[in-house]
Amino acid sequence: MTDPGPDATDGAPWRDPATDEPLVGGGFVRELVVRPGKGIEHEETVPALSAFRTGLALHPAVTFLVGENGSGKSTLAEAIAIAMGMNPEGGGSTWWFTTRASHFDVGRDLLVLRGTRTPPLNRFFLRAESVFTLATAIEQDQNAGEGGLEAYGNVSLHEQSHGESFLALLHHRLGPRGFFVMDEPESALSPQNELTLLRGVHELVQAGGQLVIATHSPILVAYPHATILLCDEDGVRTVAYDDVPAVRVTRSVLAAPGRALDEPRAAARTEPAPRGRARPGSGAGTDPGPEA
Ligand SMILES: Nc1ncnc2c1ncn2[C@@H]1O[C@H](COP(=O)(O)OP(=O)(O)OP(=O)(O)O)[C@@H](O)[C@H]1O
Ligand SMILES: [Mg+2]
Repeated sequence: MTDPGPDATDGAPWRDPATDEPLVGGGFVRELVVRPGKGIEHEETVPALSAFRTGLALHPAVTFLVGENGSGKSTLAEAIAIAMGMNPEGGGSTWWFTTRASHFDVGRDLLVLRGTRTPPLNRFFLRAESVFTLATAIEQDQNAGEGGLEAYGNVSLHEQSHGESFLALLHHRLGPRGFFVMDEPESALSPQNELTLLRGVHELVQAGGQLVIATHSPILVAYPHATILLCDEDGVRTVAYDDVPAVRVTRSVLAAPGRALDEPRAAARTEPAPRGRARPGSGAGTDPGPEA
């Protein structure tokens, strides 16, 4: 399929505005912005979506989406995947599987401002929460338009551990000059293999790829050729590595593990569900104590 969106640029290579050096990465997508005349639904629920009103600029190599649970990372990642013609549930651009409707349909109203004349050769939306569904779909459809099991290393993703199946996807399915969206790709990985993922991301970038990665990983977000976008109740803004909330918290705990319980709580958008069983007469939500 051809790349969605208008042919918006002259296709000139990406350059660092400060040094005028060519930048690494595919740079296929420069910016995503809501189509003229269209509004953005659900902006009250997910303030991060407001970024599409003025335009969400992507780094030519890697754009990280970080922020608290519920801050809108997955919503943005999904919108970008949809705008680029990918399956919102995960997977590529020519082969779709569906188990449920995507929760917000924002991506269809987005304009993709291209950074290169040529479209990406390969696209994939790697979604932690639907790898199981993806694995089943691959098994059930060996002739799938995207190479079937062979494209995933010839071993069923179900016959590998959660982390192994992720690495199989990374090493076998993702290739050169691709546009990839990943939602919490670190979720199944040991810290050691988060570094494997980090190196895999670098290989994809060196092979002319562009990635958008929603993550909580302080390891992954250390990737140097990247912009880090923090999603919160005010929208989306660029932050430095040291200001990524996951980095601050991790640093603080590692510096004084004995004081981890004293760490301030995250500013949750909703109150967490009560933990443990409530004792009769004690009120729901209180800690049931060691013997409960
Ligand atoms: N299935 C859904 N139906 C309705 N609203 C939803 C649904 N999923 C998410 N939301 C709303 O969208 C907001 C953003 O959710 P989103 O999944 O994008 O957050 P996130 O930053 O990816 O969180 P996490 O770190 O937990 O994955 C949530 O706070 C919630 O209000
Ligand atoms: Mg999410």
